[in-house]
Amino acid sequence: MISCYKTRVRLFGPVLLLIMMVINGCESVAEHPIVDAYKFEKPAHFPEPTYTFRNNQVNEKGFKLGRRLFNDPSLSRDGSISCSSCHVQSHAFADIMLHPFSFGVEDREGKRNAPPLFNLAFQKEFFWDGGVTHLDFAPILAFESEIEMDLSFEEVVARISRSADYPALFKDAFGIEEVTGPYVLHALSQFMLMMLSADSKYDRYVQGDHQALNSLELKGLELFRQHCESCHQEPLFTDLSYRNNGVQRNITDLGRETVTEVPQDRAKFKVPSLRNIEVTSPYMHNARFETLQQVLDHYTEGVAEQVSIDPKVFASGKPVISLNAEEKEQIIAFLKTLTDPGFLTNPIFFNSND
Ligand code: HEC
Ligand code: HEC
Repeated sequence: MISCYKTRVRLFGPVLLLIMMVINGCESVAEHPIVDAYKFEKPAHFPEPTYTFRNNQVNEKGFKLGRRLFNDPSLSRDGSISCSSCHVQSHAFADIMLHPFSFGVEDREGKRNAPPLFNLAFQKEFFWDGGVTHLDFAPILAFESEIEMDLSFEEVVARISRSADYPALFKDAFGIEEVTGPYVLHALSQFMLMMLSADSKYDRYVQGDHQALNSLELKGLELFRQHCESCHQEPLFTDLSYRNNGVQRNITDLGRETVTEVPQDRAKFKVPSLRNIEVTSPYMHNARFETLQQVLDHYTEGVAEQVSIDPKVFASGKPVISLNAEEKEQIIAFLKTLTDPGFLTNPIFFNSND
């Protein structure tokens, strides 16, 4: 169970390498016209994206093709599961509450909670342990994982090539005569890259609208900056590092160590963004908590001594973060200002065969 990453690499390493070579070698859609609603625009207060748009410029046709692939259950072994089965827009593309661990084909239960998907263009590494180093590769693992869609990527591409309508759509979007793996991945990335979440009440506040937060929320922001900011750094609400915040009572998932093979990385997981946190319960890689109150109680009372525990949450034999009931309420009020209703209901992400 804990060696899942190594298994992935063994199985998919050669495929990844091949795809990487092809991706790096192609300048795909530069000559196609760009329609504004489907153009990637960096939010003014965000850092520069890490995704290499040079090789894959987002455009309407590629985006819509990606949307179709994202919602297509025929790309799973038994035709039952699509990406959108586990990544649901109204939950910021996290899984629905009923599924603490996502269910794949034949209701096989996964081992980790599906993370939300947004602001992916700004991440360097993907998955809870950072085992995937390019957004374009993330779908391969989802397709091939036996607890997700359980279909080899080769077969995914073959099914797409044999379908009645996909080849024409790929030709239209990328000008290619034959559907190939890298273009399938480019289309999916185009769809996911447009999942930008940067228009919450908090964003309006930091961009100069001082009425956007009320006094309770402002107190929460102040406390947040004091106790949480060092890991959940603004404006992405993650510093993209790997840390152990003590959520595993007994360490069964080695987290980052499965990737780096360094014992100091035991039980460390990627610091998740807290944007849209109001709609992404349950929380943590192991879905241990259902409410934000439980999360805060964990930080103030639940954290215990453990190998690799982060000194920002546990030091000198006790939890570092100390908050009374009122302060917890203020932080929770602030966290709810990170909800971005425009993103959660944006119709461009709705399943549609347009
Ligand atoms: C059965 C549920 C399930 C399905 C189906 C699924 N995912 Fe996921 N997805 C997950 C889980 C669970 C993780 C976290 C895995 C981990 O950290 O080990 C994840 C992680 C990701 C990530 C990384 C996010 C991050 O912030 O690191 C991306 C991107 C992603 N999935 C895209 C997709 C795409 C595209 C598809 C369809 C091809 C898909 N997923 C299908 C459950 C699913
Ligand atoms: C030492 C760095 C660190 C500090 C300080 C910290 N966190 Fe976290 N936080 C993490 C990590 C790492 C995770 C993911 C842990 C896991 O799943 O194994 C996390 C997870 C969370 C989650 C769950 C997110 C999700 O998508 O499941 C919430 C909510 C959260 N933190 C809120 C806070 C708040 C509020 C504070 C301040 C009171 C805080 N954190 C302080 C590192 C930190």
